Amino acid sequence: MKKPQLVWDIKPVSYILGRDALRLSRKRLEEFNKRIVLVDENTLQFCLPVFEEQMENLRIDGVISINTNVNNKSIDQTIHVWNELAKLGAERDTLLINLGGGVVTDLGGFAAATFKRGISFVNFPTSLLGMVDAAIGGKTGLDFGGLKNQIGLFTNPICVVIDPIFLKTLDQKQLLSGYAELLKCGLIMDIDLWDSLESQRYDKVEEWDSLIVQSARNKVDIVRHDTFEKGLRKILNFGHTVGHAIESYLLNKGLDITHGEAVAAGMICETYISSKLYEFECKRIKEIITTIDHNFPRFNLKKDDIPALMEFLKHDKKNKGGQYRFSLLRRLGKAVHDIEVEDDLIRESIEFYIDHKDCECEED
Ligand SMILES: NC(=O)c1ccc[n+]([C@@H]2O[C@H](COP(=O)([O-])OP(=O)(O)OC[C@H]3O[C@@H](n4cnc5c(N)ncnc54)[C@H](O)[C@@H]3O)[C@@H](O)[C@H]2O)c1
Ligand SMILES: [Zn+2]
Repeated sequence: MKKPQLVWDIKPVSYILGRDALRLSRKRLEEFNKRIVLVDENTLQFCLPVFEEQMENLRIDGVISINTNVNNKSIDQTIHVWNELAKLGAERDTLLINLGGGVVTDLGGFAAATFKRGISFVNFPTSLLGMVDAAIGGKTGLDFGGLKNQIGLFTNPICVVIDPIFLKTLDQKQLLSGYAELLKCGLIMDIDLWDSLESQRYDKVEEWDSLIVQSARNKVDIVRHDTFEKGLRKILNFGHTVGHAIESYLLNKGLDITHGEAVAAGMICETYISSKLYEFECKRIKEIITTIDHNFPRFNLKKDDIPALMEFLKHDKKNKGGQYRFSLLRRLGKAVHDIEVEDDLIRESIEFYIDHKDCECEED
């Protein structure tokens, strides 16, 4: 496995990764005249004290807090952030410090980039999902009209600081949500990472520093080659086409599910689709599905739910000309993107998920 590297400058963003990253990032924050921290209710309580302790007397000029409810990445919360920035006298020489999970970094990045035509911001992800995914890659945004991420910008923080120190207070459900993205990262591009994760239990956070750094570095590598998601970056969507449909469908029904839980289900369906389109070693398919099932209980979906799920799939941003486009596994550790998939095969993959079927190949 690649060695974790702590400081990594890839213009225009610097990445400071691993244990002690927080302390090492202080110099970057000192370059600004004014520093304002954006948190949500939980990171205000659990992460701001850790941040302040590690930063030893660094002057903070204001704290803005957003709510942690379901419609949290909303325009109303963004207006609240703009109002508070104005009250605190934020100017071009102000730095907004996003201290939180994907909601804080997505919304904070958007609010900073649009306030007075853009003030600088830095991401300190505090959730596992934030550390390996949301805080990296310059996508910011809001949910709108009942759909996710409809409004937003590609805009980069000056720095992304990933320190696993924050994970101590993250609850199991949220850890598991991030774990799904770690598994995805292994599946699409990093067989070593997959092999290390396969034998891990997701709650052993203290052993994860190097896995988090490895996964974050993989995402950085992808987005620096394809910032605007014209090609390669799309492989990060593996598990997300069916996964997003399941997520929207179950959230609409009022179920309390996380993004990662939905992506885990999506990865089972999309592994099935991959195995139908490409030659796949049977033992590998079993290994993928068993590993996911070991950590994520299956949703109680019924065959009658499939038509509604197919409706949600139609909203997928990756579709072109009415055809479904998937990112799939060519083999374990290698993904491909923009693959057309027929409706019937998608339905079949959801049935495969619902029925807990074993793969159908003859070998082993
Ligand atoms: N920009 C991108 O590329 C990208 C990629 C993936 C996901 N996202 C977005 O990220 C969001 C999901 O991110 P998330 O899963 O981090 O959700 P989140 O930000 O809602 O965080 C999950 C929960 O954990 C709490 N929390 C966070 N850190 C904590 C800590 N250290 N201790 C205790 N509690 C803590 C939060 O308050 C929240 O209640 C979604 O809106 C999604 O669209 C963006
Ligand atoms: Zn995701």
